Amino acid sequence: MSTTVRALQLRGAQSGLPRLEVQLMLCALLACDRTWLIAHDEDTLPDGTGERFESWLRQRLDDVPLAYLTGHKEFHGLSLQVSEATLVPRPDTEVLVERALRWLAACGRAAPCVLDLGTGSGAIALAIKHSHPQAQVTATDFSPAALAVARGNAERLGLDVRFLQGAWWDAVGASVFDVILSNPPYIDPQDAHLAALRHEPLSALAAPEQGLADLRQIIAGAPAHLQPGGLLLLEHGYDQESAVADLLRQAGLDYQGCERDLGGQPRCSGALLPEAVA
Ligand SMILES: C[S@@+](CC[C@H](N)C(=O)[O-])C[C@H]1O[C@@H](n2cnc3c(N)ncnc32)[C@H](O)[C@@H]1O
Repeated sequence: MSTTVRALQLRGAQSGLPRLEVQLMLCALLACDRTWLIAHDEDTLPDGTGERFESWLRQRLDDVPLAYLTGHKEFHGLSLQVSEATLVPRPDTEVLVERALRWLAACGRAAPCVLDLGTGSGAIALAIKHSHPQAQVTATDFSPAALAVARGNAERLGLDVRFLQGAWWDAVGASVFDVILSNPPYIDPQDAHLAALRHEPLSALAAPEQGLADLRQIIAGAPAHLQPGGLLLLEHGYDQESAVADLLRQAGLDYQGCERDLGGQPRCSGALLPEAVA
């Protein structure tokens, strides 16, 4: 059945999806940009486009992330491939990347060792390596399928990152790092928001103990894996700021405050391992 850009935009609007999202779906389907859509409003589209659009529309209305349909997601200026094995990287996580990059620029360490725990698609590790090429970046995940996606992204982008498979600290043995970054699962399994995220891996999203179990493990192990003066930065839930601050202090770390995300919610807390007292 032949159709036009205009007809599909109208169909998308009728479905209730936001206009921008409909346009992004069309851009991905037609391998074009939004300017092309405007200039070719009345063009007849190739056979099968209408049917593919309908299929994507149905899946979007069932909360399948757009990135799973298109197969990729933009993160910190990098185009990353994603799959159902990986979390779709979120813009809020760029706050953690920016904070780490500011610290790396100021720390005066020539080839700093950086660790990304629970790398998923590789988003944090690859953004750091891309923006701070002198860094020696290691990335871990316990999911072999996620690591395969992350490795593929590193190869495609030509970024030299070391990938290790294993549960949190098990993956890195006794290695120590200048900066440790993580966006671990932190949603309370009882949180009603999880229903809308049901197409992404639950193991990437939810953690026991009101979402704090993985944050606890990471914080408890961090002092043994940080260089003196090294930085730990963690993404966490908007309501976990004070719990994370307490855990960081209890671990003997020097708490450096919490930064807010793009929506103004507390999101990224940091702490330093104190320099050894002479
Ligand atoms: C919230 S996702 C973050 C993914 C990616 N860093 C990002 O920001 O888009 C958490 C990641 O931690 C991994 N993960 C969950 N539990 C883990 C564990 N016990 N050990 C190592 N990785 C784990 C998941 O597979 C997932 O890729």
